[in-house]
Amino acid sequence: FSRRMMDRGALIVFEGCDHSGKTTQCKRLVELLEQKRIPVQQFRFPDRTTAIGQMINSYLSNKQDIEDHAVHLLFSANRWELVPKMKVLLEAGTTLIVDRYAYSGVSFTAAKEGFSIDWCKQPDCGLPRPDLVLYLNLRPDAAAKRGNFGNERYEQTDFQAKVMKNFHLLKESYWKEIDADKTEDDLAAELGEIVLNCIPTVRERPIEKLWC
Ligand code: TMP
Ligand code: MG
Repeated sequence: FSRRMMDRGALIVFEGCDHSGKTTQCKRLVELLEQKRIPVQQFRFPDRTTAIGQMINSYLSNKQDIEDHAVHLLFSANRWELVPKMKVLLEAGTTLIVDRYAYSGVSFTAAKEGFSIDWCKQPDCGLPRPDLVLYLNLRPDAAAKRGNFGNERYEQTDFQAKVMKNFHLLKESYWKEIDADKTEDDLAAELGEIVLNCIPTVRERPIEKLWC
């Protein structure tokens, strides 16, 4: 695997409902790329390690209430604060595997009463646009078989159904919808092939802006 100085890495985002296997598959993908000596780094949103991320964490774990608009802006700010680091890595040729991104931001807030998709998109407008979104699709009954929801905010079936509807309204040409109702190994093989094919195609492409 050879690359010239100017080749950039790919920005690859995982989205999908709870229990669809996003986190497991992100980890498997990072391992695959490392094994192939392709520079790679993992991100996840919310990134709970920053000061903003700690506020989000206390909100999600029901330790603190935050007004709905305000917490939407915190989730977005949590992405923006990582953008400089993401850009430096991408431009240096590192592929980023990202567990959730602005699509989760919009889909979750827009599932609340009184929020439009359009309003929800605005704060994330201009973020680095992913080269590929891998949307892991799992029917609610198949997801339920994989375990119960935890105790965090948003982990209720009726709310998650609204979230899934919103995800489908956000699909774009660079999304791939993947049927996640298969074994971990089969899913990892399928995703690995898609990602290994994607990385060489972005090398000379500029990083675009999301939703503008
Ligand atoms: P996690 O389980 O992947 O850590 O995500 C925590 C929760 O935060 C999950 O229910 C999805 C939600 N979320 C938002 O509401 N807005 C966002 O922008 C993101 C990234 C996640
Ligand atoms: Mg969770």
